[in-house]
Amino acid sequence: LVVNSCFLLAGYLTVSIEPLPPVVIGDTVTLKCNFKTDGNLREIVWFQVIEGSTGKQKIFTYDALYNNSYSNLEDNRRQEEQLYQSTVRLPEVKMEDDGVYECHVGVYDMSLSSKVILDSSSIILTIIVPPKSISVVAANSPAPFSRYEAENFTLVCTVTGAKPAPTVYFKRDGELIDVVPPASSTFQHSSLWSSLVLPSRDLDDTKLKKSLTLQDEEGKVARLGQDDPDGSQLSRELNPEPTTEEVPETMVSREFPRWVQSSDPLFYFQHRQEPVGDGTVNVRAILTWSLNPQLDNEALFSCEVKHPALSMPMQSEVTLAAPKGPKLSMRPDKAKVGDTVRITVQGFQLGPSSEVFPEPMFTWTKVGGHLLDGREQHDGRELVLERVPAELNGSMFRCTAQNPLGSTDTHTRLIVFENPRLQKGKENDIGKFSFISKGP
Ligand SMILES: *[C@@H]1O[C@H](CO)[C@@H](O)[C@H](O)[C@H]1NC(C)=O
Ligand SMILES: *[C@@H]1O[C@H](CO)[C@@H](O)[C@H](O)[C@H]1NC(C)=O
Ligand SMILES: *[C@@H]1O[C@H](CO)[C@@H](O)[C@H](O)[C@H]1NC(C)=O
Repeated sequence: LVVNSCFLLAGYLTVSIEPLPPVVIGDTVTLKCNFKTDGNLREIVWFQVIEGSTGKQKIFTYDALYNNSYSNLEDNRRQEEQLYQSTVRLPEVKMEDDGVYECHVGVYDMSLSSKVILDSSSIILTIIVPPKSISVVAANSPAPFSRYEAENFTLVCTVTGAKPAPTVYFKRDGELIDVVPPASSTFQHSSLWSSLVLPSRDLDDTKLKKSLTLQDEEGKVARLGQDDPDGSQLSRELNPEPTTEEVPETMVSREFPRWVQSSDPLFYFQHRQEPVGDGTVNVRAILTWSLNPQLDNEALFSCEVKHPALSMPMQSEVTLAAPKGPKLSMRPDKAKVGDTVRITVQGFQLGPSSEVFPEPMFTWTKVGGHLLDGREQHDGRELVLERVPAELNGSMFRCTAQNPLGSTDTHTRLIVFENPRLQKGKENDIGKFSFISKGP
């Protein structure tokens, strides 16, 4: 009985913080601390626990003795229930706001007003950050096209700056790719890499038709500008008369592989995370398979990201494509003896983007001889011929563009006109040439 009456006399205090879902960086969050008591409020203190140390930082204090910051305390007090709520508003939360928060409350015991009862509660505020960027590249690109051998091809999707780590996956033509997870990639698959000479019956009809059409184009002779209704600069430059040369001026040939895979490819998938240091992670998702240009040409691959801070998946797309009909431009329009001539690949006849993925390798050669500087070939998007001599008139240059999906050759003829400024000198005066090439 004595015990019982003592118990009834003792004051009570219970403190709890309302649960919070993860909060997106930049949002405003309100932490709510609810407490019930029959005593008189003495103080409320909010702390943020400093990560990696035992320290705590006071972020809000209410002291009944001074009662100088009452505004933050919502007094929901009702006669019987004695319910209070203290709120702390954190506007535009930052990464540093992530962590543990504590609400400490002290009340005067009703029976012994000098005695203070304490209680506290804590909560973890989780700040989440949507990914900053997403991009897809081909590993080891640019790379040459192999006509006779199946090759592994790798797409790397990089997603930066997310917290927590996002889920990254690949789709092909809009459908989720069935991947071999890293754990089971020890599977024996050597038989899948065999090369066949004839197309297998596994090939889907439309793709087969497409590849046959492309093969028809091999050896087809087309004048540059024919596929280009505007007529390129180059086609106007070129000699319009039919030529009896072995190599037509603008022959475009394409190569496609002679082998076909014997079964559906296995897609190997890896998902790697790297912490950045600011609390976010970068994720690299890597998809590797044995490329089959006949099936994979014009396939649309997309990398998608799911993340709790995103309402919709974020994505990046690439369409694999063999280089097709490179558009070459030559400057100056009418090259004269002694000019520096630049032949540049401007783009491809591929539709709106006019860019080829993966980035092709470009190789320039002079048909039937070495380049002006004695080299056999030049690599790069542009061929520069410095101070062209009259002997180069009529030379044919070949540009080969290739990526792992295919290869294409384009030829262009260099026409060099007499240079009136060099007429008087006649003899090839090197000093004069270099003066001209440096401009006024
Ligand atoms: C604190 O001050 C407010 C007015 O600013 C008053 O209404 C309230 O009763 C005071 N609380 C205490 C515990 O003294
Ligand atoms: C292709 O990649 C797979 C998986 O990484 C590997 O096991 C295989 O040896 C590779 N094949 C070739 C031809 O490089
Ligand atoms: C180059 O050849 C064209 C005809 O193909 C001719 O008109 C031009 O005069 C020649 N240039 C020189 C420098 O001989």
